[in-house]
Amino acid sequence: MAFSTIKELLHSAGPKQASVARGWIKTRRDSKSLSFAELNDGSCRENLQVVFSGENGDFSSVLPSLVTGAAVEIQGDLVPSPAAGQKYELQARQVRVYGGCDPETYPIQKKKTSDEFLRTVAHLRPRTNKYAAMLRIRAELAYSIHTYFRDNGFHYVHTPIITASDCEGAGQMFTATSLNLGDMKSLPRTKEGEIDFSKDLFGKKTYLTVSGQLEGETLAMALGKIYTFGPTFRAENSNTYRHCAEFWMIEPEMAFYELPDDMELAEDFVKSITRRTMENCASDLELFAKFVEPALMGNLKNITENKYERLPYTDAVAILEKENARFETKISWGVDLSSEHERFLVEHYFKKPVILYNKPKDAAAFYMKLNDDGRTVRGMDVLVPRIGELIGGSERENRLEVLETKMADFNISPDAYGWYLDLRRFGSVPHSGFGLGFERMMMLITGISNIRDVTAYPRVPGYAEF
Ligand code: 4AD
Ligand code: MG
Repeated sequence: MAFSTIKELLHSAGPKQASVARGWIKTRRDSKSLSFAELNDGSCRENLQVVFSGENGDFSSVLPSLVTGAAVEIQGDLVPSPAAGQKYELQARQVRVYGGCDPETYPIQKKKTSDEFLRTVAHLRPRTNKYAAMLRIRAELAYSIHTYFRDNGFHYVHTPIITASDCEGAGQMFTATSLNLGDMKSLPRTKEGEIDFSKDLFGKKTYLTVSGQLEGETLAMALGKIYTFGPTFRAENSNTYRHCAEFWMIEPEMAFYELPDDMELAEDFVKSITRRTMENCASDLELFAKFVEPALMGNLKNITENKYERLPYTDAVAILEKENARFETKISWGVDLSSEHERFLVEHYFKKPVILYNKPKDAAAFYMKLNDDGRTVRGMDVLVPRIGELIGGSERENRLEVLETKMADFNISPDAYGWYLDLRRFGSVPHSGFGLGFERMMMLITGISNIRDVTAYPRVPGYAEF
């Protein structure tokens, strides 16, 4: 039998007899002559109220099964609801229980449960209002990102997940191998006794990617404007509210863009996807504003309506040095900013997003373009309230000799990166790009304060369940 989603039913053009809804019971209450159940199927935040009346059938034997968590099909008449806040309700005529649910052992109870507890039942937490809303927003945010780039002439490309290069050069890569590391005795060895990765599937050592940027650059040098949107992996042992070992990153790369163009694009992009998600997910966002982060709507206004401050690193240090007493890590020129400094600038000093640029070259990745001062590079970070760094990007070094010297300074073998240097040999142009952490963007949009709660199955140090 055909059935409708609850979202469709609640948006029906008019009442409809013989409607069918399927979903999970949120709650049930009984009065003398009537019983009411709240039904949700994940299609939207709102529940469908189902009314069981003796006038429409004998529900006495099935009612005890209609408990929180049970999966059911209800057939009945969709009629205007006298209750406030809902256009329609379903007057039940027939009930089918797909799967019962034992209220004694079902971990998802109506009373508030902590985020920490819900992480231990990550397979069931999407049944809560909060996590279902989070996952719907995640889907919409991804859609708004694709829409933004498509509307602006970018091509969506796919860069490899298994790679032999280390884009960020930070040595935080997971090794990807077909060798059976569980059987140390049978591993192929070199003369020196090291594991011989030339016997591995690819004939060399490979890793899970930390960024699609380097391969993305090669594609931008042919297609002009590209973006990637894929999983990235970092084996950094950072146990914080904003680090995951597996996260999704969006990386646009644009030929002929210089650093100011890159910053312009980053600002427009963040504003646009925030606005679109606010439009498409109004009801789900309302839940977060009500129950999770009371300042959410004000924060989103801050993100979408202010011009982001452009702040050279050297000026940032001048501001922060005066405040060193309040910081755990003291700032002086050359020190990389950490989240406490980023958040001070954004939340206390400027009170709006900040784009920090022209970082010291020693605190930046090898590919960033060297400035004429010889000590800073054309890198930029977009910093936002509550999170700090949301985006990291740069204009890329497009001069062959300068890049070769840079790579030597970083101990990067020119042989392994010959293909990357080729871009500077054959038709080199100024180009720029950035990476937006998808989970951090989710934290910004929902007000959720821990990265473990903006993805269905977080991977963080000490935790890879499910
Ligand atoms: O600043 P990052 O390391 O920059 C890059 O990877 C560049 N290759 C991007 C580019 O220019 N194409 O990372 C970019 C963003 C950060 O600003 C942050 O939002 C997110 O990725 N990110 C993380 N998110 C969650 N967990 C982690 N461990 C993250 N590391 C970076
Ligand atoms: Mg960064």
